[in-house]
Amino acid sequence: MKRTTPLYYGDYLQLNKLLDSQFPESTKYGAQAHDEMLFIIVHQAYELWFKQILFELDAIIREFRSNKVDESQVHIAVHRLNRIAEIQKLLIGQIRVLETMTALDFLDFRDVLYPASGFQSFQFRLVENRLGVRSAHRHVYKPGLPYYANLSEEHQQIVRQSETEPSLFHVVQDWLERTPFLNVHGFDFLGEYEKAVRGSGQELRVSETDLNALLDDECHEGLVRENKRRLSRKAMVAALFISLYHDEPILHPPFQLLTALIEMDEQFTSWRYNHALMVQRMIGTKIGTGGSSGYDYLKGTLEPHKVFSDLLAVSTYLIPRSELPALPEDVRTDLGFYYSSK
Ligand code: HEM
Repeated sequence: MKRTTPLYYGDYLQLNKLLDSQFPESTKYGAQAHDEMLFIIVHQAYELWFKQILFELDAIIREFRSNKVDESQVHIAVHRLNRIAEIQKLLIGQIRVLETMTALDFLDFRDVLYPASGFQSFQFRLVENRLGVRSAHRHVYKPGLPYYANLSEEHQQIVRQSETEPSLFHVVQDWLERTPFLNVHGFDFLGEYEKAVRGSGQELRVSETDLNALLDDECHEGLVRENKRRLSRKAMVAALFISLYHDEPILHPPFQLLTALIEMDEQFTSWRYNHALMVQRMIGTKIGTGGSSGYDYLKGTLEPHKVFSDLLAVSTYLIPRSELPALPEDVRTDLGFYYSSK
């Protein structure tokens, strides 16, 4: 790849467009409110970062949709998930920048924003859907009204389309379900694990109810119905196997992947919480410009919008290394390892 004409920095970055895209509404309605420029730029920076997050998520999902995910693809996915988590940290940091605007400064222009709101960020909804936030379990601000109700027709279409596309949650679940070494060479991981838990000679390491949810389809389905579990039982068992034996070199990459998913999910929750706190600081208990109850609504999104909570639940099932069933030698040597459907 070789250039034939010189490239100019400003053209490459489309700076004319980018820098000519800040139009404070307050100037149209009287006096310009000084802090509205900061408000616009922070939001625009967010939207650019949302675009990058979507770009990374799309690439990971694309790779994981194939039946074969080899070790290098797992490494790349971990790298990209870690990047998303770093971007999230930056986004949380930007809240501090915006909070240099006082609640009174915000009132200088808040009224002219109505009814625009971050509610209408279609990219944010796309990110949520790509991750795997479930439409039916969303916290909505008005019962019966879909979460995309206040988007434009065009954005509603894009967001609704994304509901039908595979999410990170689903491709990770499929990948976990393909874990090939849970039942090989006569080694029955779940059976051995149950023996280790029950035979520890101490109080049950894992409660009977939790154990049954892992061993028994019906118990598992009961938790799914109560919305206490989402991953399939098979995927849950695989995640446990990876977590228990993550000292095995071959299991490092899958374990790093699970860790990166947990970290990323946690960063999203932190952002939601920090944003809710900022909202409380700016508007107290006033309703939002988008029409929700504001702080209370936002606080309500924290739990239902988590995607990978089941990976945290894996810790419920961990037992000390000293009590782990030993992996038979042929299983250890056989882990030359492809998450393939074959
Ligand atoms: C002064 C600063 C801010 C205030 C007072 C504020 C206020 C609010 C309020 C009250 C809501 C709930 C919907 C509504 O009734 O309007 C909301 C939602 C939202 N805001 Fe902000 N916001 C601020 C800054 C930001 C920034 C910088 C972003 C970055 C893009 C952002 C993104 C969002 C998103 C994505 C939602 C939807 C959250 C959800 O439904 O889960 N907000 N905001």
